[in-house]
Amino acid sequence: MRRWAMDFLTLFAVYVVAVLTCIALVCRYSGRQQTPFTLLLDCVWRVIAPVTPEWLRRCSHGAVHKLFHQRNTMFIYLHLLLEGAVYAEFTCEVVGYCREMDTTLTSLSVPYVLLAVKSFLFYLCITTDPGSVTKQSVAGQLQVYPYDKRMFHPGISCPTCLLLKPARSKHCRTCNRCVQRFDHHCVWVNNCIGAQNTRYFLLYLLSVCAMAGDVALLTADMLLHAVLRSGLLRASYIDDDGTRQTAGPLFVMQHLFLTFPRIVFMLGFLVFVFFLLAGYALFHCYLALVNQTSNEWYKSRGLVCRHCRPGAAAHHQRGPAPDRSQRHYYSRGLLKNLAEIFLPLQPALKKSN
Ligand SMILES: *[C@@H]1O[C@H](CO)[C@@H](O)[C@H](O)[C@H]1NC(C)=O
Ligand SMILES: [Zn+2]
Ligand SMILES: [Zn+2]
Repeated sequence: MRRWAMDFLTLFAVYVVAVLTCIALVCRYSGRQQTPFTLLLDCVWRVIAPVTPEWLRRCSHGAVHKLFHQRNTMFIYLHLLLEGAVYAEFTCEVVGYCREMDTTLTSLSVPYVLLAVKSFLFYLCITTDPGSVTKQSVAGQLQVYPYDKRMFHPGISCPTCLLLKPARSKHCRTCNRCVQRFDHHCVWVNNCIGAQNTRYFLLYLLSVCAMAGDVALLTADMLLHAVLRSGLLRASYIDDDGTRQTAGPLFVMQHLFLTFPRIVFMLGFLVFVFFLLAGYALFHCYLALVNQTSNEWYKSRGLVCRHCRPGAAAHHQRGPAPDRSQRHYYSRGLLKNLAEIFLPLQPALKKSN
């Protein structure tokens, strides 16, 4: 029994490490901009990079560049694949057990409602123009926000688009366009997040969290019922030395792993995804409430975009170092800030008389 438990623990540890590594890799390369995760992972990368062979480093760098720094739909398919796998597992196995355990149909249908809502918001994120700065729109977009002369200075043109940069805009290297009220380029929706779709992105993040959380809760509830029904908590066994032992939590976990391997695996995945996304969603809610974009958040902390070649930083519109004590000086109150996300200020359209 002891030997068995040891094997199980090793296996479980390998599983946890594998999942964490996958998540770490996704964090390392998604989103392009620094996130708290990527900063942490950068440190790890710096430690392991010297011991990685040069050819491997160069090879992976090239592949990673293609995958993450050019527009491509791979992440959208990956996203749909993961979602499909989770929902297939949920529908085929968990729902059946839940029905046996008298979970109501109403609560079982919530994940599907959330799925529909999330898919709609996902679609909006992908297809909405985030607020591209074009020859036609630039005049109107210049009027929307005043230049603060700290992070954004008047009279600077984008060296690529050759158009004046409106305050709070930034050139997206992946999409090769300037975007009004630029937040970040999101590889998962293959689109920039900017003035016109931050609201969908925010709701989308919250709906994915709700979805993962709800499926995880229903699944955990089902497993709990399964354990209670099996009477395992009261069971006991005879160990190697011939003494009677009560089945502890380790024993129960082992039983669940062996009886419902796919369901337990899915639950583990969902819990990780939930905490990852909840953290990210909270960060974006915070930004929305204080009227900041991720771009401004990084800038105000003096974190320079690590993808820019040194010397090519003209588009960062460097000004005097931002004063930390005045970090939220943009904010005009939480409600007004939120209103601006959900009813973005429209560029004044020039009427041709
Ligand atoms: C948000 O910040 C910008 C700063 O450029 C400001 O012009 C705008 O009025 C602010 N909006 C609110 C609702 O505070
Ligand atoms: Zn540009
Ligand atoms: Zn982009």
